Amino acid sequence: MRVLAIESSCDETAAAVVRDDGEFVRVESSIVASQAALHERTNGVVPEVAARAHVEAITFVIEDAVVEAVGSRQKAVETIDAVAVTTEPGLKPALVIGETAARALAVAWGKRLIPIHHIAGHIAAAWLPLETGNLRLETGERVATHRFPAIALVVSGGHTQLYRVDTGLQLRLLGETRDDAAGEAFDKIARLLGLPYPGGPALARLAERGDACAYAFPRPMIHSGDEAFSFSGLKTAVYYMLRGSRQQAVGSRELDEQFRRDVAASAQEAIVDVLVDKTVAAAAREGAQEVMLTGGVAANERLRQKLRTALGELPLVVPLPRFCTDNAAMIGAAAVLGVQVPKKETAPQS
Ligand code: KG4
Ligand code: ZN
Repeated sequence: MRVLAIESSCDETAAAVVRDDGEFVRVESSIVASQAALHERTNGVVPEVAARAHVEAITFVIEDAVVEAVGSRQKAVETIDAVAVTTEPGLKPALVIGETAARALAVAWGKRLIPIHHIAGHIAAAWLPLETGNLRLETGERVATHRFPAIALVVSGGHTQLYRVDTGLQLRLLGETRDDAAGEAFDKIARLLGLPYPGGPALARLAERGDACAYAFPRPMIHSGDEAFSFSGLKTAVYYMLRGSRQQAVGSRELDEQFRRDVAASAQEAIVDVLVDKTVAAAAREGAQEVMLTGGVAANERLRQKLRTALGELPLVVPLPRFCTDNAAMIGAAAVLGVQVPKKETAPQS
């Protein structure tokens, strides 16, 4: 099956063509138009601004993905079986642009429309070409044979969740953050240090030459014995530490450079430690045969390293960085594999 996939849930306009040849999930094209430069001006995403940028980019992005994969629009109509699109969760004005484009194409081409949950996409990225982990793959095109049950840690700007993944790609949510997501913590702490949007990668770069042991920031809920997370207290701890320091300029680039590096490294270490400990504990509790690390924060090198070391012999599967941050190939993978996120149980109405 060959699908055209579209993703516009936040600040990346993305389209991809993905084919399941029975053995591997092949990425025939994956185009991502980032709006990062646009949102740098406001130091965050304004949903209507993101939506307008999606409108401007989406037709070109789809066209590029189709031409790169199959050669022409005409060929796309002949060879593509379905159109997959992210329908939830995300910024509503942004989501609707991708969904409208996908619906229009599905109707015009007479193809099936496959709605995809964004988190199903992040987990399905574990079936795309992989880079790191302790699973050795010969080429970028090989897709690992996964072992179940597996634990999937999904860490993005909006989510921090641990899932159990069973044979047949059945997902069960084990636990999630009670407040901020890990990516949100990276972004907010980055802002306190005067770093530009998007904060996560910028903070990771600043941390490279910092001392991770310089400041003992809290590791919230690390010993809670369950799969729940909480990151808002960490951001507050960094805020008060900066305010109480001799250097008063919170949110400014005027802070001493080595001081900023040390704070960045120490804060990153706190986030990473919580994610690693909770994942290792969940893997032990569930008798996992493998761990998958996905979502934008999975691009973080320190997290990859520490999780790999902590898991020892247990295989770790991490997609290539470009398939960790938002992209449409992962949405196509979720469509061809049939990955579905179970609906959250809501309390019965009285
Ligand atoms: O999955 P994603 O691209 O979008 C959402 O679904 O939210 O994740 C974006 C998040 C942002 O918070 C960004 O700062 C973070 O992932 N991120 C990183 C890195 N690359 C992206 N955080 C830490 N280190 C990175 N290298
Ligand atoms: Zn995402």
